[in-house]
Amino acid sequence: MDRSAKICKSVNEAIGGTPLVELSRLTRGLEGRVLAKLEYLNPGFSKKDRIALQMIEEAERSGELQPGRTVVELTSGNTGTGLAIVCAVKGYPFVAVMSRGNSIERARMMAALGAEVVLVDQAPGAVPGQVSGESLALVEEAARGIVAERGAFRADQFSLEGNYRAHYLHTGPEIIAQSNGSVQAFCDFAGTGGSFAGVSRALREQDPRALCFVVEPAGAAVLAGCAITSSEHKIQGGGYSLKELKFLEGLRIDGYVQVTDREAIATSRRLAAEEGIFAGFSSGANAAAALKLLEGPCRGKTIAVLLCDSGLKYLSTDLWPPLESE
Ligand SMILES: Cc1ncc(COP(=O)(O)O)c(C=O)c1O
Repeated sequence: MDRSAKICKSVNEAIGGTPLVELSRLTRGLEGRVLAKLEYLNPGFSKKDRIALQMIEEAERSGELQPGRTVVELTSGNTGTGLAIVCAVKGYPFVAVMSRGNSIERARMMAALGAEVVLVDQAPGAVPGQVSGESLALVEEAARGIVAERGAFRADQFSLEGNYRAHYLHTGPEIIAQSNGSVQAFCDFAGTGGSFAGVSRALREQDPRALCFVVEPAGAAVLAGCAITSSEHKIQGGGYSLKELKFLEGLRIDGYVQVTDREAIATSRRLAAEEGIFAGFSSGANAAAALKLLEGPCRGKTIAVLLCDSGLKYLSTDLWPPLESE
């Protein structure tokens, strides 16, 4: 969709159609290109606005979501923000259930957008700012309780097809059109795996030779079959140490790339300082993985990545260094 070409009837029509930018400063000295899809330019500052809209509109079409019914979702903040926006415009009450391990900016933003935010304590011994599989299980339990109590519709991003379809129908085809079909590889940090599954399927339909890599936190690379050495990491939005992700079942995966917190942070900082792109931890992880691929199996190729959300969502974290004068 070319959102600059018309008056949008609501902000929901301003979702998607994000720019694709070549990271030519980051790739200086390397053979090949990295093309970055600026998903932080969506209305909720993340790629998850796309899936929020797709999941809600599919549920409306199927009759599962009727006017006035409450919507509930477990979120690291981004899907919740997308749902808060879509539900505000369409008039559904929305409850976001989030771990206290996620940054507080996200909770405040959802509340400002009219959501009821339920914060769930982390698992005993968990580190603030780091959401593990155990902490996520506690959030899941709380979300289930609220759905049962209120007879709500669960906009479950781990299972609703709308998640994967948002990227299959829109993000992937946009990348293909914007790059004139020149993308040969894709790598993506997996949370639900919806972005990876949707974009990789779209790319492969256009060119079956497209190579698609799953990005995981070093220490918790369970999808690659590695033992967990540390399930805590700073790359919010994924890397939950879940071995089975519905959207990845039966999907061809050409390889796995592991990224440390330090690499993700250093690359986010390079994106900001060298490319003028202010994005979050997982965006840094995706760009870091693409740079590794250019130095390895994808030398000379054109790789697409998603820059998943905005760096503004992490001002309270150590993603950005404090000023010396602070
Ligand atoms: C910032 C961020 N990056 C990456 C992801 C992972 O995306 P997906 O769930 O499509 O695998 C998420 C998901 O919540 C996210 O919020």
